[in-house]
Amino acid sequence: MANRREFISTATLTAAGIALAPLAACSQEPAASAAAPAAAAPKPFKGPLLTRAVPSTGEKIPVIGMGTSGSFEVGTDAASRAPLREVLDTFVNAGGSLIDTAPTYSTAEDVLGDLIADAKARQKLFIATKLSRVSGREEGLAQFNDSLRRLKTDKVELLQVHNLGDTAAQIALARELKQQGKTRYVGLTHYREDGQAQLAAEMRQHKPDWVQINYSPVSRGAEKTIFPLARELGIAVMINRAFEDGRLISQMRDKPLPPWAAEVGADSWAQLILKYVLSPPEVTVVIPATSKSRHQLDNLKAGTGQLLDAKQRDALVAAMA
Ligand SMILES: NC(=O)c1ccc[n+]([C@@H]2O[C@H](COP(=O)([O-])OP(=O)(O)OC[C@H]3O[C@@H](n4cnc5c(N)ncnc54)[C@H](OP(=O)(O)O)[C@@H]3O)[C@@H](O)[C@H]2O)c1
Repeated sequence: MANRREFISTATLTAAGIALAPLAACSQEPAASAAAPAAAAPKPFKGPLLTRAVPSTGEKIPVIGMGTSGSFEVGTDAASRAPLREVLDTFVNAGGSLIDTAPTYSTAEDVLGDLIADAKARQKLFIATKLSRVSGREEGLAQFNDSLRRLKTDKVELLQVHNLGDTAAQIALARELKQQGKTRYVGLTHYREDGQAQLAAEMRQHKPDWVQINYSPVSRGAEKTIFPLARELGIAVMINRAFEDGRLISQMRDKPLPPWAAEVGADSWAQLILKYVLSPPEVTVVIPATSKSRHQLDNLKAGTGQLLDAKQRDALVAAMA
């Protein structure tokens, strides 16, 4: 049974519009050795993952998703794929759902499609892919059909126009495919602070269901441009590059966690960063990319328990400045 503190935290999150995904059993963290000091033992994953609603439909999405750029670009080599099977299993077993990929992430769609099929996990997943570096309807359609083949599926959940390339033609195609039931949502993506003004203009023009943008404690532009607009227009927000492609974690690796980390149930810098990114209510999901199941588990833990309050957010920004 939940103790009073857990109950209060759950009730507060629910009141703030954050729901909880169904409880998923996940006990992949090795038990702490009797000789290890208690403070050094990482906490096991204790679900459920928090969820947030897609504004256009109310569909609940677990707040920790995953990316595939770099991490899943390993080709056909069985030894390189083996750790990614664990990354996927850890994600699915914890109740994770949304996976972001793109046809231009070299072999990522092929690897992801094969591993999902092997794990028989397709029905549990929300696959987001992209129309990427294509021009005109025919090129976009051919790429999308190839994505379906590579992903071993007949539809995706979200089709995004990548980095605002040929937006008018590609979002028109994505909407056509949505009408045909080939995607449930359409979206726009970018990944840099200097792309946010154009992204905001195109959000107003095209009113997609989803937008994907970069956000971290050291890249906070989205707070001023994208989040208020997403709230106004009812657009779901997916966050990429929360770790600044891993640089933020490397920067903090040897520094002790702040004393208040335990108050929010975090035992790593990765969890604090992800909790930071998830704190604005406009954010629907964050998609950290990893090639290691222990990092996947670490990231998933950030999607449980409390997020950060304003004071904790300020302290994290100051620690990483
Ligand atoms: N324009 C766009 O649409 C766009 C642009 C950029 C990214 N994206 C999407 O966003 C996803 C995420 O962005 P990203 O891949 O650029 O960078 P990221 O998620 O900020 O960082 C990934 C790096 O963090 C490391 N990492 C992950 N979890 C960790 C943990 N718990 N502890 C320590 N290190 C950890 C990974 O290394 P390990 O493998 O060692 O864990 C990897 O090097 C991409 O994969 C892609 O799907 C989209």
